[in-house]
Amino acid sequence: MGKCWTGVLAIVLVACVALAAFWAPDGLGREEAPPALPAAAQDCMVCHDDPGVNAILRTAHAVTDDPHSGFAEHGCATCHGPSHAHQQRPERGSRRAPPDVVFGIASQLDADAQNASCLGCHRADAGLHWQGSVHDHEGLSCASCHRAHSVRDPMRDPVAQAQTCYGCHAGVRGETLRPSHHPLNDERMACSDCHAVHGSTGPALMTRGTVNETCHDCHADLRGPFLWEHPPVREDCLICHQPHGSVQASLLRQRGPWLCQQCHLAQFHPSTALSGSGLPGETLPSGSGSMLGSNCVNCHSQVHGSNHPSGAGFTR
Ligand code: HEC
Ligand code: HEC
Ligand code: HEC
Ligand code: HEC
Ligand code: HEC
Ligand code: HEC
Ligand code: HEC
Ligand code: HEC
Ligand code: HEC
Ligand code: HEC
Repeated sequence: MGKCWTGVLAIVLVACVALAAFWAPDGLGREEAPPALPAAAQDCMVCHDDPGVNAILRTAHAVTDDPHSGFAEHGCATCHGPSHAHQQRPERGSRRAPPDVVFGIASQLDADAQNASCLGCHRADAGLHWQGSVHDHEGLSCASCHRAHSVRDPMRDPVAQAQTCYGCHAGVRGETLRPSHHPLNDERMACSDCHAVHGSTGPALMTRGTVNETCHDCHADLRGPFLWEHPPVREDCLICHQPHGSVQASLLRQRGPWLCQQCHLAQFHPSTALSGSGLPGETLPSGSGSMLGSNCVNCHSQVHGSNHPSGAGFTR
């Protein structure tokens, strides 16, 4: 009796699986049917129709009615070259000839030659400042960061983008894990909000001509001009701040009052640094204890500049 039920169950199960396979539009579980393949791509897809490769069919590069994509006419050859030798059956005992253009570390070509394949179309956007930029100079290829065969290019996703950068810039990852940091490890911000990684006219691949202009993109309230300006703020935010992360609050390079005392040692004024030697009972060199447990910004709260008529001392 038990045996019989097991048999029936098995039959029902097999039927269900078969039905499911029948109803699914394709066995790979894609959400949408792939668009019709141009003849120029069919040649390659005979051998390369696997999910890792054919995801490209759902990207901007395979939009067949966009003449700029080149895909309708040239198919895979748009980037990989015609690759005739590669499509031939290799001689017995020898390996298949590689395609004309292979990307990444497995490539027979240097980075410049790989990049030429992309820059043919992307000279006006990504290619604008690429030549001679740090990343070009260091021999990066476009494929060091981009994934042409991915439905969502990692560079378009803040988290995936940062992970790619950390692969080479491990130190920056460390900085973003400090207590005070720009929110770079969640969806809120991307490295490319501040860095133009294809090259820029500013320092450190800034998206703007200067560091300050880049910061002002988001911290517009600090752009000024102020009635009372604080010269170091005008000059460079990085005099006091670290861009990625810091162990001090507010991304500061130094804790107050030392931060300020790198430049200010007002003689008449309660500005002697708080230190072990400044505890009650000891005589402070400046003769004032009002810095105890205190910080310059407790009183000088408007360090970035003030618009108050009597804000010359940045106290209001
Ligand atoms: C007859 C089958 C066949 C055809 C047609 C074919 N390929 Fe390949 N391709 C292969 C095989 C097999 C490999 C793996 C070769 C190896 O590992 O040496 C491969 C590897 C590749 C690679 C990876 C190379 C590397 O070194 O990592 C690329 C890129 C590629 N093919 C692109 C193309 C393109 C573009 C076309 C059409 C122009 C194409 N292939 C047509 C069989 C084919
Ligand atoms: C035949 C022209 C052509 C070639 C070659 C080409 N692209 Fe594109 N690319 C396009 C077009 C067209 C688009 C879609 C329109 C746009 O965003 O400018 C695009 C879009 C992109 C995008 C934006 C994708 C997105 O999700 O918005 C990236 C990144 C890109 N290409 C990188 C590359 C890389 C890397 C290469 C070389 C491996 C390359 N392209 C080769 C034409 C080309
Ligand atoms: C160091 C990593 C890196 C390298 C190398 C790189 N890119 Fe990009 N690329 C990015 C990032 C990050 C973005 C996203 C910018 C954004 O979303 O604002 C991007 C965006 C793009 C876009 C979309 C349009 C645009 O300009 O915003 C294209 C096209 C593109 N890259 C092409 C290329 C080409 C071609 C190369 C090789 C010459 C290349 N990239 C090399 C990181 C890189
Ligand atoms: C926009 C340029 C572009 C087009 C068009 C393109 N590829 Fe690629 N291909 C690349 C790049 C760049 C890589 C390196 C890996 C990546 O970026 O995803 C690559 C990698 C590959 C690989 C190696 C995959 C691996 O896992 O190492 C194969 C195989 C391949 N392409 C086949 C094709 C086939 C087949 C087509 C046509 C359907 C095609 N490619 C169209 C740019 C392109
Ligand atoms: C808020 C703007 C901002 C963001 C977001 C940002 N950076 Fe930076 N980054 C800067 C500034 C400003 C400098 C220049 C630092 C200097 O000169 O001391 C810099 C410098 C660098 C440098 C060179 C010096 C060093 O510290 O090694 C690298 C590499 C770098 N950034 C990578 C990244 C990566 C990777 C990300 C994303 C995880 C990122 N940055 C996000 C502003 C930013
Ligand atoms: C394949 C490795 C690699 C990847 C991936 C990479 N970089 Fe770089 N990057 C380098 C090298 C090498 C240098 C030059 C040495 C240095 O400053 O560390 C550099 C330099 C920089 C600089 C310093 C520029 C200057 O003028 O001081 C910045 C900023 C930067 N990269 C940001 C990024 C960002 C943002 C990403 C991710 C979108 C990224 N990098 C991805 C290798 C890489
Ligand atoms: C793309 C937008 C953007 C840019 C550009 C930008 N920031 Fe920020 N900044 C943010 C965000 C978002 C926060 C986090 C605010 C929060 O957590 O509420 C932040 C926070 C800060 C903080 C406070 C951190 C804390 O722990 O309280 C400082 C200081 C700061 N940024 C300085 C800078 C400097 C200096 C630059 C230029 C190098 C800069 N920012 C560029 C978006 C930006
Ligand atoms: C003279 C040193 C100094 C310079 C230069 C400086 N800051 Fe600050 N910044 C501070 C101090 C100190 C704090 C902490 C204030 C507090 O704790 O009340 C701070 C806090 C901040 C904060 C978080 C709190 C707030 O006020 O919104 C942001 C954002 C910020 N700075 C951005 C910038 C930007 C952008 C620049 C360049 C335009 C800049 N800072 C230049 C000293 C400086
Ligand atoms: C890189 C040097 C530097 C740093 C760091 C710095 N300042 Fe200044 N500060 C200046 C300069 C330069 C002036 C303009 C002095 C002048 O006009 O005589 C100034 C002016 C001032 C003034 C107005 C003084 C006056 O004579 O009107 C105050 C108050 C002040 N700073 C407070 C601070 C505080 C608080 C900090 C720490 C958060 C700080 N500063 C950090 C360079 C600096
Ligand atoms: C207990 C409050 C308080 C603290 C703490 C404090 N200050 Fe002041 N400071 C003042 C006042 C009040 C003035 C006069 C402001 C005015 O004229 O608007 C002043 C004036 C100044 C001036 C201008 C002096 C001049 O020549 O006109 C400087 C520079 C200054 N402070 C720097 C600092 C520094 C640096 C620290 C931290 C080491 C600090 N202050 C801590 C209250 C304070």
